[in-house]
Amino acid sequence: MKEALAKPGFLIATSTLGADLSYLLAVIFTVMFLFAWWQAKKGDGTRHHKLILVSMVSMVVYFIGYYYTRSLGVLSLEGKEGFGGPESIYNNVFIPILTTHLVLVTLGLILTPYMIIEGFRASKKVDGKWTLQTGVLKANPARFKRIYIWLLTIWAGLQVVLMAAGKSVGSMIAYFLIFLTIALVISIEKLVEKLLPEGDRRHRVLGRGTMVLFALILVTSTATYLLLYVFYPVRAA
Ligand code: HEM
Repeated sequence: MKEALAKPGFLIATSTLGADLSYLLAVIFTVMFLFAWWQAKKGDGTRHHKLILVSMVSMVVYFIGYYYTRSLGVLSLEGKEGFGGPESIYNNVFIPILTTHLVLVTLGLILTPYMIIEGFRASKKVDGKWTLQTGVLKANPARFKRIYIWLLTIWAGLQVVLMAAGKSVGSMIAYFLIFLTIALVISIEKLVEKLLPEGDRRHRVLGRGTMVLFALILVTSTATYLLLYVFYPVRAA
């Protein structure tokens, strides 16, 4: 499978099949999300909700495939070997764009599940149609406490499993950081509730921000793809 994905791409010969596939899928999923924005703008909350869920599932499948092929940005982060251009372009153009892309993707990975959960909390199915509910939307403090206790229990359980399996201290630290990030994101919800108390307004404001983020992710991944395979390919066409 890995050999097949390393074959020349179908978009351009200087690319690889894996890079072309993952780029094309990234374009398709981003367009699906942006189309879901248009549906929400038209007031079609039900179609918006369905398309968001389908796009989300497809995105998760894509991400698994992306990290399996490791054919685009990740490969080029490992060193300059994946980039055929001059050192100055690599340092001053390619690396800043790739870093921005990875930061945006990380933000997207946090905001997308947050927005999906918020979407369910802020809207209600009325006569078979999903509609945003007006009014203050606040999580019960007891619920926050319960979530933190669950997180702590799962993390502690995982540490025991990792220790029993003789895993390195590095992997334990990595899991600690992942759980810490989740806990921090949950605590940010308290701040968000203060700044945007009404659930429907929160969904619209943060939802628009998330959609703009998706569009920027597409812009930066396109720039990365162009730099790697069109402007400065390693492999000859
Ligand atoms: C990644 C997740 C999501 C994002 C980024 C998102 C984004 C948005 C945006 C930007 C709007 C306002 C459109 C505008 O006026 O510009 C909106 C409206 C809405 N969203 Fe979402 N949404 C998400 C998930 C969900 C989910 C999971 C549901 C339902 C369970 C939902 C239900 C709604 C409804 C009912 C509206 C109102 C549509 C209307 O105006 O009638 N959203 N969303």
